[in-house]
Amino acid sequence: MQYKKIAPSLLAADFANLQRDIEMVNASEADWFHIDIMDGVFVPNISFGMPVLQAMARHTQKTLDVHLMIVDPDRYVQTFADLGADVLTVHYEACTHLHRSLQAIKNAGMKAGVALNPHTPAHLLEDVIQDIDLVCLMSVNPGFGGQAFIENTYDKIKKLKTLINDNGAQTLIEIDGGVNDKNAKALVDAGADVLVAGSFVFKSDNPTDTIKNLKKVIA
Ligand code: DX5
Ligand code: ZN
Repeated sequence: MQYKKIAPSLLAADFANLQRDIEMVNASEADWFHIDIMDGVFVPNISFGMPVLQAMARHTQKTLDVHLMIVDPDRYVQTFADLGADVLTVHYEACTHLHRSLQAIKNAGMKAGVALNPHTPAHLLEDVIQDIDLVCLMSVNPGFGGQAFIENTYDKIKKLKTLINDNGAQTLIEIDGGVNDKNAKALVDAGADVLVAGSFVFKSDNPTDTIKNLKKVIA
């Protein structure tokens, strides 16, 4: 069984001190960097684009988990591969030809992820689950950090886990949105493998300790 991972989301970092915050994550017990790319079309917010991600990637020393909240993500698969993304996640709702998108991500040498909005049922992935390395269940509506966790997520994790097991797949389950030290344990107990945490880490008094504590809670 794979160990459980914490992926701090840089969306909640201090953008005027990005290098400092990235070095903090490098030196912490965090496992991955979670990078949120928003286009102002698929979601009602714009985060940051290629020049910023390029600058980030010069300093990050852990797995780069890139979450694309953009329409027609196929256009940028090679760009994100060139930038050093290790996991590239596209939204189910943003892909007309999801199977083709997954193949493109893998052909570019990355792990392929699919994110599901809160209203999108896990069973829609049944016919492609074997081709997915990671499913990101959105536990808030995508677009903003700092939102309240949607409780229905626990049930959805269980349904997704059953789908993965029934198909003999090795897919990781990632939870994104509203993760904190109160729900982290229950999420991994329900079957989650990777927990994204933005505000809870970066808005805390001591982010390094907060990450350490989250790791302890889910160990
Ligand atoms: C939301 C993003 C999340 C966000 C999580 O659209 O996908 O990754 O940064 O932030 P918190 O942990 O603050 O909910
Ligand atoms: Zn995200």
